[in-house]
Amino acid sequence: TTKSLIIPAAGSGSRMQREVPKPYLKLAGDSILEHTVRRFLSVDGLAQVVIATSQEYLDQANDMLEKVLPDTVAARCVAGGNERQDSIRNALAVLSDVDLVMIHDAVRPFVEAKHIAECCRVASEAGAAVLGVPAKDTIKRVDGRRYVEETPTRKFLWQAQTPQVFRTKVILEAFEKAEEDSFSGTDDASLVEYLGRKVRMVEGSRSNFKITYPLDLKLARLLIEKE
Ligand code: C5P
Repeated sequence: TTKSLIIPAAGSGSRMQREVPKPYLKLAGDSILEHTVRRFLSVDGLAQVVIATSQEYLDQANDMLEKVLPDTVAARCVAGGNERQDSIRNALAVLSDVDLVMIHDAVRPFVEAKHIAECCRVASEAGAAVLGVPAKDTIKRVDGRRYVEETPTRKFLWQAQTPQVFRTKVILEAFEKAEEDSFSGTDDASLVEYLGRKVRMVEGSRSNFKITYPLDLKLARLLIEKE
């Protein structure tokens, strides 16, 4: 099966309190984005990598791809949008003719090869697969004034990570439908759910955390030195 990898890297990083956007912060000398791309180089059938990034970083992202990708993998960098979903839409617009689309956050550099492979296997079978872990904390749903409205049973709650992998037709249809209905979600699988198609959860690992807050960056720097 041929595969494209889409990496949204156009976030502003407001929660990190830094000038440089998160994907371009350094980990052991290289950008977080570069570490993340490298995790996918061993994926079987990888045909294309598309990075969505802010205009100022297009050149840097292009140079990095040229450096790390083999000649057999096509590279594209596109401008991101205001929301993550807009960034993905721009990336899907330049998609090659592949069987599976893997979408993975630029800021999850610790994803493991075996979990990427498992998501691809499940997506080929079920159409859509999401990597995740069972919720560790009890999760409360609150109203606008922070009064608790509901405590869903924890054993049915999972934290969704990436990669999220889809059959190409499924993800293209999901984005089309979401655009038609102005539906928005904070991950890609939610658009497929909105389309009414099944999405399977694949159990991953807690080390595949998203570098979001300053504490995450500290942890990432400690972990990368141990590798
Ligand atoms: O904002 P969030 O933490 O969900 O971001 C996840 C990923 O999506 C990050 O890699 C970020 O750079 C990317 N993103 C994007 N375009 C946006 C917002 C976020 O590509 N407008």
